[in-house]
Amino acid sequence: MSILKNNSPIGFFDSGVGGLTVLKRLKELLPNENIIFYGDSAHVPYGEKTEEELLSYAKNILAFFAGKDCKAVVMACNTTSSLIYNDIKGLYDFKLYPVVQSVAQVIAQLPIKRLGVFATKATIESNAYPNEIHKYREDMQIFGQYCPNWVKIVEANTVENPESVLDIKDNLNKMLENNPEKIILGCTHYPYLLGILSKYAPEDMFIDPSISFAKFIKDDLTECNLLNKGNDLPTEEFYVSASPSLFKEAAARFYKLKENPILIEF
Ligand code: DGL
Repeated sequence: MSILKNNSPIGFFDSGVGGLTVLKRLKELLPNENIIFYGDSAHVPYGEKTEEELLSYAKNILAFFAGKDCKAVVMACNTTSSLIYNDIKGLYDFKLYPVVQSVAQVIAQLPIKRLGVFATKATIESNAYPNEIHKYREDMQIFGQYCPNWVKIVEANTVENPESVLDIKDNLNKMLENNPEKIILGCTHYPYLLGILSKYAPEDMFIDPSISFAKFIKDDLTECNLLNKGNDLPTEEFYVSASPSLFKEAAARFYKLKENPILIEF
């Protein structure tokens, strides 16, 4: 068993720019951490992939992070957390944080009875959100809805296009028919759409799980005595499996990259 080192990097992965919504929150809480981000843009959207496909991508990505000596890996992706976390946990010695399982307890404590969940097709069909939340509390009614175009809209950086706005509005109206008290943005790409969503419903109706997720990770790293205590300037490395310049452009809405990410294919 290898010993995890405080100054080792934290790896993040997602199908594309979505995971940056988590990275941003974690950097706000832990600015001193060295990070490595992998956006698997060659395989986006994950929400339409099979479990077998997701597992094979994730195994390659975890091996990459192991090669970089990461002390922790953040599954900044609801889809992989929902479908394959149980298959990959324990493969390596580093800490592995799945988003859905890490935030379910906080969501279960919300003083509400009707919760909407916007997520990818795969996440909704896995029932991961209801299953995880109901472990803590059974009386919350959960209305899941997938939005097939939203990840594509974010990746293509076409959030403000009239067709995109219409799509966002139509999906929101359909969800509002359930009278949810709050709506979880259960895909890490969806916080990019908050500006549009909050034109048609109060902003505080939407919950970005990244906020509680980042706190969960900080608390756990603190408890495990794994925070970076070094004084060197923290490093950031970004990698993608396709379209580096489009990634940088789409990311800019949430996270400004100094340079294009490095293209790396497994
Ligand atoms: N952002 C990811 C998620 O949270 C994946 C979205 C996708 O590629 O379909 O589910």
